[in-house]
This record gives sequence, structure tokens and C-alpha cells, in this order.
Amino acid sequence: MGVFYFIVALLALASSVGFAYDPSPLQDFCVAINDTKTGVFVNGKFCKDPKLANADDFFFQGLGPGNTSNPLGSKVTPVTVNEILGLNTLGISLARVDFAPKGLNPPHTHPRGTEILVVLEGTLYVGFVSSNQDNNRLFTKVLNKGDVFVFPIGLIHFQLNVGYGEAIAIAGLSSQNPGVITIANAVFGSKPPISLEVLTKAFQVDKNVIDYLQKQFWYNNS
Ligand SMILES: *[C@@H]1O[C@H](CO)[C@@H](O)[C@H](O)[C@H]1NC(C)=O
Ligand SMILES: *[C@@H]1O[C@H](CO)[C@@H](O)[C@H](O)[C@H]1NC(C)=O
Repeated sequence: MGVFYFIVALLALASSVGFAYDPSPLQDFCVAINDTKTGVFVNGKFCKDPKLANADDFFFQGLGPGNTSNPLGSKVTPVTVNEILGLNTLGISLARVDFAPKGLNPPHTHPRGTEILVVLEGTLYVGFVSSNQDNNRLFTKVLNKGDVFVFPIGLIHFQLNVGYGEAIAIAGLSSQNPGVITIANAVFGSKPPISLEVLTKAFQVDKNVIDYLQKQFWYNNS
């Protein structure tokens, strides 16, 4: 009997250790303040009195279509905690992605969310690249209407419209605020620019190649 209680106590301890964790970041950063009087941000958002919540706190109207008349031929319309305040702390959001013919949702990552995408219209060539540890393998698929594909959290991924007409997809994301880092925009369009010395060495190219890339206008489609 003593052994039984000992094991139960041990399991209880193990599970409390195993399930105790800090809240994940819910925005890019949440720098601590020293003086609480000046604090206005938390990890996530402040909550209103639950008794004051109503249906509109959980509602969003008119999801798209996004305007795809832009250099990428794609538009992402996010529905995150910034659009539906009731999503705060719930760990979920979505986005609609519209594609013109040949439109591209360029290589990007979501630092805080896995994505599951369903094609509503058209045909998309999609892919993601695994991490260095997995040798940066490319996983791709051509998706037709009704097909679903998963982009694991943090991995670089893209979607290209390879059909004849427009394409529409809906993406579910496992964060109230998954975030987006578009690779080209972050690397070549940062403000201020990353130094030539860093980028020429990183990409092993001549500095006028980097100079050329940094002079481009990196459109943000989301
Ligand atoms: C925070 O405030 C204390 C007391 O004023 C000060 O000693 C400390 O250096 C501050 N810490 C930082 C990181 O600014
Ligand atoms: C779509 O965007 C283009 C380029 O900014 C603009 O000229 C056009 O009026 C927009 N169309 C709609 C329907 O808003």
C-alpha cells in the first residue's frame, strides 16, 4: 500500500512538472517594464469583464475577397485576435488567401502557428522546407479544390496558383496571433537594411547582387 501511494505521489509530481509551462509568446516580443505604472501591454491582450462580452466579440463580417492587383498577385486577409477580440487566449485564428492567375503567396513563416490550408477554388502548388537538422528537405504538393495541406509551425512555406483561373484558400492557424515573416521582405527589405558585408557573405554573391535586391520594393501581401 505504501508503495502504491508513493507511486501515485511520484506520478502527481511528474505530471505537475511535465504540464507546468510558461505561456508561449503571443506577439513578437513583450519586453518587461520596470515600473508597473507605465505598463499597458501583456502577453496577449487585456480581458474585458466576461459579463460584458457579447456575440459581436466573436464575430467577423465579410471575409474577402482580397484585392490581388499587386506585384505578387495574392492577398492574405487575416482573421486573428486583432480582428476578433474574442479569440484572445484561445490559440486559434484563420486567414483567407486569394490568388490571381499565377499569383504567389511568397516564402514566409508563421513564428507562432502551425497552418492547415484547404483549397476552396483553383489549383495551388504548395510546399515547405524542413529545418537544417532535417537537411532542409522540400515537401511539395499540387492541391485541387477540397485538398488540405499542413505547414508545420515555423517552417518556410509558399503557395503558387498554377491553375487557369483565380484560386481561393482558407488557412486555420494554431495561434490567436500566428505572425508572418516574409523571407525576402525581412532579409532584403529590413529597415534599416542589413549590412552588405553580412548579406554578401551569407548568400555568397557579389555586393551588387545584394545592392540590387535591397533596392527592390518588397510588397507585403498580408
Ligand atoms: C529596474 O529598476 C531598478 C530600481 O530603479 C534598477 O536598479 C534596475 O537597474 C532597473 N533594471 C533595468 C533592467 O532597467
Ligand atoms: C485593387 O488594388 C488596385 C491597386 O492598388 C486598385 O487600383 C484597385 O482599385 C483595387 N480594386 C478594388 C476593387 O478595390
